[in-house]
Amino acid sequence: HTVSWDPVAAEKGEYRHFMQKEIHEQVRSLTDTLAGRVDFDDGIIHLPQLNLTPELARRIKRICITACGTAAHAGMVGKYLIERLARIPVEVDIASEFRYRDPIVDEDTVVLAISQSGETADTLAAMDEGRRKGATLWAIVNVIGSQAMRIADGYIAMQAGPEIGVASTKAFTAPLVDLYMLAILLGDLRGVLSQRDRKRLVADLRLIPDLVSRCLDREPEVLQVARELRYIRNILYLGRGINMPIAYEGALKLKEISYIHAEAYPAGEMKHGPIALIDRDMPVLAIAPKDPWYEKMISQIEQAKARGGSVIAVATEGDDRLPELCDHIFWVPETPWLLSPVITVIPLQLFAYHIAALRGLDVDQPRNLAKSVTVE
Ligand code: G6P
Repeated sequence: HTVSWDPVAAEKGEYRHFMQKEIHEQVRSLTDTLAGRVDFDDGIIHLPQLNLTPELARRIKRICITACGTAAHAGMVGKYLIERLARIPVEVDIASEFRYRDPIVDEDTVVLAISQSGETADTLAAMDEGRRKGATLWAIVNVIGSQAMRIADGYIAMQAGPEIGVASTKAFTAPLVDLYMLAILLGDLRGVLSQRDRKRLVADLRLIPDLVSRCLDREPEVLQVARELRYIRNILYLGRGINMPIAYEGALKLKEISYIHAEAYPAGEMKHGPIALIDRDMPVLAIAPKDPWYEKMISQIEQAKARGGSVIAVATEGDDRLPELCDHIFWVPETPWLLSPVITVIPLQLFAYHIAALRGLDVDQPRNLAKSVTVE
């Protein structure tokens, strides 16, 4: 009698796919992201590998974030965080655009690459372009010892651990928290954050692992919605402000693994085109937590409903307006708004995962996609 042992299946543990396992690992990866970096007693952030001196922090005139795919969506959130907390102008460029645009970069510019693999060809080439022009190069990267980590002047190592699923999940939320910590550090060193604000912002980080865990507890509800919507052919994701990039990331997850046409828009742009698409067959997924753009999202949802679209909303627990307006709700716990993207993306990861799994698709190895794209 022999016991068969499949090492790949064993690694997946109780989960059917790596993607689902990695979604659930986010409680741990985000706990690890804070460990050793956050001094909760004094409200201080430590990112020693960044080699950020007070002199450099004051000299920076511009930050160009460059990345591809999911990492670029993290960068879009980073723009909000760094501009808000450190008052440094930030641009976000898709790496394959940045490298060919003759970007305006000088010695007072930081080029900040974000990459899970640290080997994406376009991202590395964008870093080279920054180097040629004399910029300081930073990288937020998951794979230790990767090229992006080696060529950077300073880096933040994501604490996501190995990510196997092609559709990135835990290597999206880790850099969101890294960027939040970076924004606090820059704001502090440049003297634009009061000590009181800094301490409050740092204290908020402590909430994150538990909030993520509470989102994951609602997986059965997300699965139920996925069951009802598994046959949709199109969907429009809308978000605004700091949660606008989460519309892009939610749509990307669905496209990548379920092959459903999902389009993302900043909600305020709906009236400039996509509203023409809304009818009974075009559901709208609105990311509408209690953040500073909440009222604006409500009016966008009302407009979508008026045109017959069915609406799924990501909403903050206790919200009593959205359940009356919407067909389905993905509940998320109340979260300080600068950290809300870490939380609002979780049900969207689960939604994409369950739709693809229900359709019997190869979630971890979607067609035509590679985990890291090392050619142009
Ligand atoms: C590929 C992967 C995406 C990833 C992107 C950037 O397209 O399929 O999931 O977001 O590359 O990869 P990187 O390793 O640079 O984060």
